[in-house]
Amino acid sequence: MIVTTKDLFQHAYGKYAIGAYNINNLEQTVGLFRGNLGKKAKNDDPVDQTNSAPFIIQISRGARSYSDKRMLEALIRAADEVFPEAIFAVHLDHGTEEACCDCINSGFYSSVMIDASHEEFAKNVEITKKIVDKAHAKNIVVEAELGQLGGVEEDVVGSVKLTDPAQAAEFIEKTGVDSLAVAIGTSHGAFKFTGKQGLHFDVLEKIQKAIPKNFPLVMHGSSSVPHEWVERINNAGGKLKDASGVDEKQYLPAAKLGVTKINIDTDGRLVWCAIHREQFRDDPANFDLRPPGKIFIQAYAEYIIHKNNVLGSAGQLDGVREMLNSGKKSGGGCCCCKH
Ligand code: G3H
Ligand code: 13P
Ligand code: ZN
Repeated sequence: MIVTTKDLFQHAYGKYAIGAYNINNLEQTVGLFRGNLGKKAKNDDPVDQTNSAPFIIQISRGARSYSDKRMLEALIRAADEVFPEAIFAVHLDHGTEEACCDCINSGFYSSVMIDASHEEFAKNVEITKKIVDKAHAKNIVVEAELGQLGGVEEDVVGSVKLTDPAQAAEFIEKTGVDSLAVAIGTSHGAFKFTGKQGLHFDVLEKIQKAIPKNFPLVMHGSSSVPHEWVERINNAGGKLKDASGVDEKQYLPAAKLGVTKINIDTDGRLVWCAIHREQFRDDPANFDLRPPGKIFIQAYAEYIIHKNNVLGSAGQLDGVREMLNSGKKSGGGCCCCKH
């Protein structure tokens, strides 16, 4: 069942974070749905309630154009039928004005991100407000970004600018946006830290104090870049030197301070890369795409289960379903009581 991110945030706020996972193809889609229902091996395995989780599917502009945007939509619609127990939001990741309008008009996405974080504050406000007005008219919710992460995102190489707490409050007030991505030390990709750096919890605390109560924050660039997967890649011929990510032990403390959506893309790519490299190394006579595909789907499902456990979303699916059934579901539009 497709819901808005706002519905999911309502259940999670201050307790746990919802995993927001990027997908590009069939194998990731199947692994993602299985993992979020706690099914490791097969589509028709029983749902494992202790591991079943609400989740967000993220589609980047790159993913939309990888084959054709309608392909991913069709895959997600099919997965919704194959896995009727799943509860998830469909979200455009790092949208431009044009991509947001396209997704709002498509009628398929329940949430869009307008990313004008590279613009000056006033311009970011102006662009975000325009998208919020369009999206809310169709009960679609909007995430925006203030501050700048490091690393590569889509085609932009970022220079770090941590989010200013007072500006965050003003931005939310002026735009009516539903959630805000903040820069608190993370960056996109597999090379996040050169030493022992971590999240800036001091900045996060100040942001939470400055903005409306229960307003959901988003953390991009949150892959943990597990050493184990990097090692598997390198042992199978890869060359990922000095890769590092966010310490998974920091997810829940961040969730307690209002981070309600945690974005994970790179980790999924690492799992894909390790499995395929190992397969080609260990079975050089094989030329069928399905054997590595099958192994990847299962490994990705297991990885999602692990991730949801560290995010605290594992085991929360029934609670979300009950909340939705009891009619406490939020409408579209802004969850900040000022709008
Ligand atoms: O933040 C960016 C995401 O990791 C999407 O990456 O544009 O390569 O699909 P992509
Ligand atoms: P990672 O590169 O850390 O997975 O971040 C993904 C992301 O923020 C997608 O928007
Ligand atoms: Zn991002």
